[in-house]
Amino acid sequence: MKRIPMVIKLFSVLLILGIVSSAVTQIQKGKTRPLTTEQWMEGVIEPHCKSIKKGLEANLLEDKAWKKLAVNAAVLNESSYVLMADGRCPDGLWATAASETLRVGSTELLKAIESKNIEAAKSAFSQVTKSCSACHKAHKKKEK
Ligand code: HEC
Repeated sequence: MKRIPMVIKLFSVLLILGIVSSAVTQIQKGKTRPLTTEQWMEGVIEPHCKSIKKGLEANLLEDKAWKKLAVNAAVLNESSYVLMADGRCPDGLWATAASETLRVGSTELLKAIESKNIEAAKSAFSQVTKSCSACHKAHKKKEK
């Protein structure tokens, strides 16, 4: 068997390291814009998700509260596009969680909110939160 020259071995190792580390940065940040995934989660997804949870727990909602919930649901829906933008998405699992589970769930949620149907809203919200766990299980590192 012919021996593989050292330069080629070294080059392969560097290439593999490069691919692995760029996949990691891709998850944490897009390719051109400064926003990190962590910032979007903390600044947008988590607060809107919490407001929906609180709002739906309150059950009997007034018009003003429904209107606020619609804002939250619409922002989560828009987030399903942000998470796919700027080359942030690393694989099919991410794509399914963002552009299917989160997007479809939040669209359903918005419909339920517009028709002020609390039961439908609760069930759509549970779809929305399935996207969090699906994506986190694969792509969010264990607690630091
Ligand atoms: C398509 C993937 C994806 C989806 C969907 C997703 N997340 Fe995340 N989330 C991540 C990744 C990746 C991180 C880790 C970011 C890092 O630490 O670099 C994260 C981190 C977080 C964090 C921790 C942020 C911090 O300050 O460290 C919170 C909170 C969070 N997500 C909430 C949610 C909630 C709530 C949902 C569902 C409504 C959700 N996420 C849906 C990918 C996703």
